[in-house]
Amino acid sequence: MDIQRTTILLIEDDEEDYILLKKALTKIPHVHYDLRWESDPQAGLKRMLVDQHDICLLDYRLGALNGIELIREARRQGYALPIILLTGANESEIDILALQAGADDYIAKERLQVDLLSRIIRYAIERKKAEREREKLLSEQLAIQELEKRRNEFVNMVVHELRTPLTSLKAHAQILRKHFSLTGDEAVIRTTTRMNTQINKLTDLISDFQDITRIEGGRLQFRESYFDFDELVNEIVEEMQPVTDRQLLLRDGETNKTVWGDRSRIGQVITNLIMNAIKYAPDSDRIVIKMQSDDTTVTLQIQDFGPGIPQTVQDKIFAPFFRVEGATARTISGLGLGLYISAEIIQRQEGHLWVESQEGKGSTFCFTLPIEREHPLEEKETAS
Ligand SMILES: Nc1ncnc2c1ncn2[C@@H]1O[C@H](COP(=O)(O)OP(=O)(O)OP(=O)(O)O)[C@@H](O)[C@H]1O
Ligand SMILES: [Mg+2]
Repeated sequence: MDIQRTTILLIEDDEEDYILLKKALTKIPHVHYDLRWESDPQAGLKRMLVDQHDICLLDYRLGALNGIELIREARRQGYALPIILLTGANESEIDILALQAGADDYIAKERLQVDLLSRIIRYAIERKKAEREREKLLSEQLAIQELEKRRNEFVNMVVHELRTPLTSLKAHAQILRKHFSLTGDEAVIRTTTRMNTQINKLTDLISDFQDITRIEGGRLQFRESYFDFDELVNEIVEEMQPVTDRQLLLRDGETNKTVWGDRSRIGQVITNLIMNAIKYAPDSDRIVIKMQSDDTTVTLQIQDFGPGIPQTVQDKIFAPFFRVEGATARTISGLGLGLYISAEIIQRQEGHLWVESQEGKGSTFCFTLPIEREHPLEEKETAS
C-alpha cells in the first residue's frame, strides 16, 4: 500500500504535548506525518501564512493569546487550509467558539487515540478540499455569467450602433425615391428601390444576429395576442412576391383560424422559409404555400421545386451557422441562422417545424402551431 504524506504545522507552547502528539501520529498506519512544530504563537501565525503544509493543529492555550484569537486572525489574513484546535481537559465548551472563529474541528488532548486523530485530520483536509473545489466552481460560474452579461451588453451596443445609421440611410433613400418619382426618372427609381432592398437585408442580418445572442442567453421574448393566421400569410406573400420575378408564390387553401401567439415572430418564420425557397430554388417557376387546419392546430407548408436537401444533412440545417456545402452556398448569401431561429421560435410557441425533401425534387418546409395555448385570461377578453 502506498504511504501517504501529510505535513502538519503544530502551534503548541508545551513541548510535552508536542512529543505526545508526535508519538500518537507515528502509530497511525499507512500515513507518514511530517510534523513541524512552532511554540511561539506569533511566529506560528507567520508560518501558517508562508510555510507549505496540509493542515494546522493549534493549542487552545497559547500564553497571552488564545488559540481562538489566533484562528480568527489567520482566517482574517486569508489562511485557507484546515485548522484543528487542540483543547485541554474541561475545555469542551469552547468547541462552538472555535468553529465560529474558523476552525474545522477540535480534539481533546486527553483523547488522542490513534484512530480518532487520523480520522479527524483526514476528514478536515478532504472537507476543506471539497469546499475549495465548490468555491472555485461557483466563482467560475460567476465569471461566466459576468462574461455573458458583458457580451450581451456589447451585442446590444453594436446592434444599436449599426441600426442608427441604417435607419437614417433608409429614410434618405425614401426621400430620394419620392423626389424622383415626381420627376419620373425610372433609372433613379430603380436604383433607390435596390438601395432600399439592400438596406432591408442589412437590417434583417442585424436582427438575426441579435436574435441568436438572445436565444443563447434565454432572452428571446414573445409578445402574444390573437391574430388572423391567413391574413398574416397573405400579407407576407404579397410583401415577398416583388422580391422575385421568376417564381410565382401560389397560395393553396385556408385555415380560417384565429391563433394565439406572437404574430411578428411567426411572421419572421414564414418570411425566412419563403426567402429560403426563393434563394435555394432559383430556377423553378413556383413556390406553393399551403394552409391547413384542424380543430386544434394550423399547418403551413412551403414547397419549392429546387435542388432539395440531401437526407444526411436534413437535421443539421436547423443548427446555427450550418449551410449545405456546394456551389450555391458560395453564391447565395446567408449566415445559416434563419432555420435555427425559426425552429426556436416555433418550439417556443409549442409547435413543430420540419422538412421533407428529396434531392432533385425540391423541399417542403412545414410547421404546425396550436391554435390555443395557455395565456392570461384578461388578454383573451381584450383581444379583438
Ligand atoms: N428551400 C431550401 N432548399 C434547399 N436548401 C435549403 C432550403 N432552405 C434551406 N436550405 C439549406 O439550409 C441552410 C440553412 O438555411 P438557413 O435559412 O438556416 O440559413 P441561410 O439561408 O443560409 O442564411 P440566413 O437564413 O441566416 O440568411 C441553407 O444554407 C441551405 O443550404
Ligand atoms: Mg435562410
